[in-house]
This record gives sequence, C-alpha cells and structure tokens, in this order.
Amino acid sequence: MRILAFESSCDETGVALVELEQGRPRLLAQALHSQIDLHQAYGGVVPELASRDHIRRALPLARQVMAEAGLGLDALDAVGYTQGPGLAGALLVGAGVAVALAAALGKPTIAVHHLEGHLLSPFLSVDPPEFPFVCLLVSGGHTQLMRVSGVGQYELLGETIDDAAGEAFDKSAKLLGLPYPGGPHLAKLAEQGRADAIALPRPLLHSGDLDFSFAGLKTAVLTASRKLDGSAGARADLAASTQAAIVELLVKKSLAALKQTALNRLVVAGGVGANRSLREQLTQACARRGVRLHFPELSLCTDNGAMIALAAAMRWQAGLAKPSMAASFEVRPRWPLAEV
Ligand code: KG4
Ligand code: ZN
Repeated sequence: MRILAFESSCDETGVALVELEQGRPRLLAQALHSQIDLHQAYGGVVPELASRDHIRRALPLARQVMAEAGLGLDALDAVGYTQGPGLAGALLVGAGVAVALAAALGKPTIAVHHLEGHLLSPFLSVDPPEFPFVCLLVSGGHTQLMRVSGVGQYELLGETIDDAAGEAFDKSAKLLGLPYPGGPHLAKLAEQGRADAIALPRPLLHSGDLDFSFAGLKTAVLTASRKLDGSAGARADLAASTQAAIVELLVKKSLAALKQTALNRLVVAGGVGANRSLREQLTQACARRGVRLHFPELSLCTDNGAMIALAAAMRWQAGLAKPSMAASFEVRPRWPLAEV
C-alpha cells in the first residue's frame, strides 16, 4: 500500500510518500518546508501566517514528492493528513488539500493524530523498535511518557501538568534573548557553559509519579536571567544549567517509567529528541541498565510528513484506520491521544 500524506499542524509543511509491504514501511520520498524564517521576526508562530504559507507550499511539495518517487498519482492507495492536535487554520489547509486530492483520485483519506505520527516515527528509522516499549514524547506542545504495546495501543503513564519540555526550552531561550525556535539555539549556547553553574529547580523530580512540570523552572530562569552580569560566559552558564534541569527531569522520569512498566526498551520521539545532551545522557543511563534505546534520526524527530504517512499506513494495515470517501472533513485542534 502507498500513502501520500500532509502534515500542517504548526509551522512546517511536510509531505511524504510511504509504502508498506508485508509490515515493512519504506519512505519513498518526502519534502518539507519550515516556516522558521517567516515567524522569527515575531518570536513565535503567527497562526494566520502559518495557514497562508501552508496553502502556498502544500501542492508544490506534493508534486516534488511524487516526482522524486517517480510515480504518478494513480499509484496512491490513500491520502493521509494530520487531523489534530494543532493550529486550527493550519490543520484545515492540510486536511482540505488531502481531501480534495483524494476526491479527485477517487481514493480514501486517512486522518492521523499528530502525536501518533511522532510515536510511530521510529519505525521509519534505520534501527526500528519492536513493541512493547516506553515512549518519551517530547515536542513543542507535549511532554508525555507512554506505554506503547502495539499500533493504537497507547497507555499514558505521565505527562506535563503545565508547559511542555520544548516550551521550557523555547521560553527560557527567549529570556536569554535567543531567536525562535529557542530549543536548538539554547542547546548550542549551552555547549559553552557549565551545567552546574546556576542552581535551578527540578519540579516534581521526586513526586513519585511520572508527571512533569516546567513552569516553575521558567520562572527560576527569569529570575536568574535578571541577575546576569551581561557577560557571554554567564549567559552560556544559564543556558547550560537550564538544559541540565530539563534533561535531568526527562531522563529520571523515563527511567522511572521503565522501572514501573518493567520494560527494557525506550523510544524517544518529538522535536526535543534532537537535543544532544538528552541523547548522550539517555544513552549512558540506558547502557548502564541494559535498556535498548531508540532515537529516530533528527529529521524524523521534528515535524515531518513521513511520520503522518507512516501512521496512516500502519493504522490502515492494523485495521484501525477509518478510510473516508467523504468530500467533507473536520479538524481537531485539541485531541487527546487516548481518543484515537
Ligand atoms: O516535534 P516538534 O518539531 O514540533 C511539535 O510538534 O511541537 O518539536 C518542536 C520543539 C521546539 O520546542 C524546539 O525548540 C524543540 O522541539 N527542539 C529542541 C531541539 N531541536 C528542536 N529542543 C532542544 N534541543 C534541540 N536540539
Ligand atoms: Zn510535532
């Protein structure tokens, strides 16, 4: 089966073509347009501008993907799209294009939950996991620990009660005067600083459950940033200390989740999974405990169309997707993963 899918939940237009044969997924082609330059001047995503840009990009990217794959549209079995969660207007663009294309081709559409895309994305990597595993899902909007037993079998073990880990990176970066999106910039600055230079709180570290909280950390970073002496070294120290606090919370809670579930496989998904310090510390911690650790390639961690095409294909194959021939659609800007 071959599925072309559109991702447009936030500030990236992703289109990809995935083939699934005998349970083996293969990425035939993909294209991505990031809107970072568009939103940078505003310090964050401007929803209206995001929607308009998705409109401009979706079809040219789809043409590019099909050309790269060397296939015609008649080779498609279905068209997938991100139904939510995300920005309503942005989601409507991808959904509208997907439904119109599918209707023109006489093929069904498959609506995909963005987080399920992140969760399943490691199956496209060179080192795919096996079920069951614990997934640490860390993106700009979500921070969750999940027990993943199979396609569509997701048990929420813990999640953030306020900001997401990506938000903690982004908001702290903003306080340090770094451009949007702050995560990668803060990580870069942190490389020149000392992680133990400034004492920052680790909220809920010893809460005994698997929930996260990052709002207090942001406040502490704000207070610390006001005390900076203006030197480059002090800023780098604060960046390194902030990253260390976020990473420690993510690592410790992931290990606790593995212990609680008695599983020995951990998968990291979502944009913050691109963070080098998180990767290094999880690698060390998992090696010590004999835990098999899977990090998808960086391009699969951040938003992309491939994970949406993959999730559509895997759900369809598992008999869980509801392929639709309807020329109407709805998006779900707020959509708990438990409801898929
Ligand atoms: O999964 P993603 O691309 O989009 C959402 O679904 O939210 O995640 C984006 C988030 C942003 O908060 C961004 O700052 C963060 O991932 N991020 C990073 C790094 N690369 C991306 N955070 C820390 N270090 C990085 N290297
Ligand atoms: Zn995402």
